[in-house]
Amino acid sequence: MGQTPDGSEATVIFRVAEAEIGRDLRGQLQALLQASFPGYPSRTYFKLPPHFRYLVMTSGVLAAQMGVELRVIRVGSTVLRTFGVVDLCVRAGERSHGLGRRLLAEVTELARSCGMDFVILFADDDRIYTRNGWARAANPCSWVKIHDHTTLGLATAEDTGALMVKRTGQKAWPAGAVDLLGHLF
Ligand SMILES: CC(C)(COP(=O)(O)OP(=O)(O)OC[C@H]1O[C@@H](n2cnc3c(N)ncnc32)[C@H](O)[C@@H]1OP(=O)(O)O)[C@@H](O)C(=O)NCCC(=O)NCCS
Repeated sequence: MGQTPDGSEATVIFRVAEAEIGRDLRGQLQALLQASFPGYPSRTYFKLPPHFRYLVMTSGVLAAQMGVELRVIRVGSTVLRTFGVVDLCVRAGERSHGLGRRLLAEVTELARSCGMDFVILFADDDRIYTRNGWARAANPCSWVKIHDHTTLGLATAEDTGALMVKRTGQKAWPAGAVDLLGHLF
């Protein structure tokens, strides 16, 4: 890798299964996550590893990442197939050049081609997501509470204030309580 013939840096986006990420890349991932999220633990995931990730390499160095959960959830009485976006982050020097938007476009496209019903995520700051087709959902929510590899029980919220959803299939987002059927990502 290195520079392209016109002198610009080569940017490569690819998808990788979590289990296939090697030691060197894991080290880069941990550094990027810790630099992007204050208080991030000394590993490459917050609660549990995602199922796969999109990675962006610029001249062979990790510039951005987005984890993706494959998660079946239940909303009211409707069971939905979803992708969950986890820990989207871009290296500080590479921000505001559209890398975040490109990663969100990639997972949306994959969700459509896989017949997923929604791509969901939890975010306090909704700017990049509303710009790219996500909407807030104020459903009550329950999830499995996990801290440092220990299951603590069940958590519930009347409105997380953070759930966002983007439709990628035929179903409308249902009313009713969201059962995440696992941890909150
Ligand atoms: C959020 C983030 C991934 C965006 O990546 P990016 O490559 O800069 O994204 P894009 O260039 O496609 O879009 C930039 C827009 O994202 C929005 N944005 C900036 N920071 C944001 C944040 N923390 N959360 C949500 N949206 C954000 C702004 O509207 C920004 O527009 P601007 O450049 O005109 O200010 C990047 O700022 C980042 O890594 N932040 C730190 C980690 C983080 O907070 N991740 C979000 C977790 S929910």
